[in-house]
Amino acid sequence: MDIETLQTELMAAIDSAGTLEALEAVRVSALGKQGSVSALLKTMGGMSPEERQTQGPIINGLRESITSALAAKKAELETADLNRRLATERVDMTLPAPDAPRGTIHPVSQVMDELAEIFADMGFAVAEGPEIEDDWHNFTALNIPETHPARAMHDTFYFPDEMARDGQKMVLRTHTSPVQIRTMTSQEPPIRIIAPGRVYRSDSDATHTPMFHQIEGLVIDKGIHLGHLKWTLETFLKAYFEREDVVLRLRPSYFPFTEPSVEVDVGYSVINGKRVIGGSEGWMEVLGSGMVHRKVIEACGLDPDVWQGFAFGTGVDRLAMLKYGMDDLRAFFDGDNRWLQHYGFNALDVPTLSGGVGV
Ligand code: DAH
Repeated sequence: MDIETLQTELMAAIDSAGTLEALEAVRVSALGKQGSVSALLKTMGGMSPEERQTQGPIINGLRESITSALAAKKAELETADLNRRLATERVDMTLPAPDAPRGTIHPVSQVMDELAEIFADMGFAVAEGPEIEDDWHNFTALNIPETHPARAMHDTFYFPDEMARDGQKMVLRTHTSPVQIRTMTSQEPPIRIIAPGRVYRSDSDATHTPMFHQIEGLVIDKGIHLGHLKWTLETFLKAYFEREDVVLRLRPSYFPFTEPSVEVDVGYSVINGKRVIGGSEGWMEVLGSGMVHRKVIEACGLDPDVWQGFAFGTGVDRLAMLKYGMDDLRAFFDGDNRWLQHYGFNALDVPTLSGGVGV
């Protein structure tokens, strides 16, 4: 069959396709693995260079015109389909609500409530900061100057230059650490706060989403040392995982805003092939922390020879996964009702220390 006839026939088939399924069948018959257009494309490999020069553009032209005709028809059918549904489907807003509420508390909200409960018992208040943050609070004041490689590590979402405020470039905060700065510049020490909230980085796979949740902790007082940090984290992790056999391992590390910096691992045991928190068969990293860097204390207008403290930060979503057993972070933000029914919490299950923070 010559190319022109094939084109006429395919165009007619596309034009007369009355449903998306019929259109898909035409697409497969032309562009699918065994399709007529695909077969023509394959013949090009065996042509002489001269033949290819004349036939190539014709065959490619055929493929392009069929592809765009298919796309146009698809859009037309989808619009018609939507209009038909809009005309026929109705939601009766006057129907009575279901007897039992069907919504659930998202695990991230639940875990944040659990953390607030645990830290409130240790005398920590909850602090907040903006998600659209300026460069100074997100980086500079945290001892991450303009040229610091840590800026590249954070995969920052920057706002356009026109949106700068007071000469400061604006960013979607890459961590909850800027809340440390906001608290120290607005409150007199002693300070004991946690700051849970959303943070943003340009990253996406099974364990990274562009938006995720962190919780920050900050203590500023006189005579604070690493021992206070270790006790606080140990008490927190035992309460959170609801086990006395939680074992911590502190490893020296580096963060620009702490000196010294420590990364904290918790030990796990393997039971029936699954990792369970507790014991020390293996280790997984759960927190970054350290003694607040002198430069950070100074940047907030405090005297580092008088005031010292510690800070820590960790991922709330990851804490939820470790405790409640989900393994794909992306599902947290899909809004799939089946996932929410399975992993969500009852609105009346408010975490309390006396009743066990989990449910
Ligand atoms: N801000 C760090 C991050 O996003 C986490 C962190 C590490 C926070 C150490 C801290 C800290 O407060 O002391 O990776």
